[in-house]
Amino acid sequence: RKSRLGPGDIRARKGAAPVVCLTAYTTPMAKLVDRHCDLVLVGDSVGMVMHGLSSTIGVTMEMMILHGQAVARGVSQACMVVDMPFGSYEEGREQAFRNAARLMAETGCQAVKLEGGRHMAETVAFLVQRGIPVMGHVGLTPQSVNTLGGYKVQGRGHLEADRIARDAEALAEAGAFSVVLEKLPSALGQRITREIAIPTIGIGAGVECDGQVLVVDDMLGLFADFRPKFVKRYGELGGAADAAIAAYAAEVRARAFPTPEHSFGESNPA
Ligand code: KIV
Ligand code: NA
Repeated sequence: RKSRLGPGDIRARKGAAPVVCLTAYTTPMAKLVDRHCDLVLVGDSVGMVMHGLSSTIGVTMEMMILHGQAVARGVSQACMVVDMPFGSYEEGREQAFRNAARLMAETGCQAVKLEGGRHMAETVAFLVQRGIPVMGHVGLTPQSVNTLGGYKVQGRGHLEADRIARDAEALAEAGAFSVVLEKLPSALGQRITREIAIPTIGIGAGVECDGQVLVVDDMLGLFADFRPKFVKRYGELGGAADAAIAAYAAEVRARAFPTPEHSFGESNPA
């Protein structure tokens, strides 16, 4: 735990080296991400990626705690952040503190992330003043999919761009240590990165952000059917898994697996 990067280290990266982030939801993936990244996010995308939900609305505190505990067992170097799920912080700052404190105490994460701009600034300040580092998240905020009307690019047009820039600024002033910018035009990602004092972590927000984040299963190509423009596929693991499972099924049906190599004899019981 002592050698992990902290939220303060992430914040200090502003204007220095890019902040490399990925999500993780399980211990083995967390171990891989931890070897190469500065920050591991237990995103509420876990609901869609690991549980088959159609949005993040149905994700619960219990799911975040279970996956947070699994990830914590694999993280020794990176800063670990857990998403606050929909409904766990919007009612007010006391509710937010109670649930954020529970996420930290039960998972051992070093910070929480919550969605929303100016209207969440008071809550962010309340948490930070009481010992809970907070990462913000503006632009496309998936927990608001029903009021946003879909997963569209946000901040097109100068009024919307100004609104999102003010949201990011309010979170920085409230004491957030960094802020995720999701699905914004590159020029707006660049503008916000220049205007605010904390690192911007982009996902579909252009190359000028202070850091980048992706959903690890997306960038590994674990899904055949989800290919958004902002995700670069660094692997095709879904295709590799499909081929491996097909080969296994064919060999079992042909009685070609197992062979003596994978079987136990009388003289060699181990
Ligand atoms: O839930 C998530 O994975 C996220 C990142 C994509 C920023 O919030
Ligand atoms: Na999220």
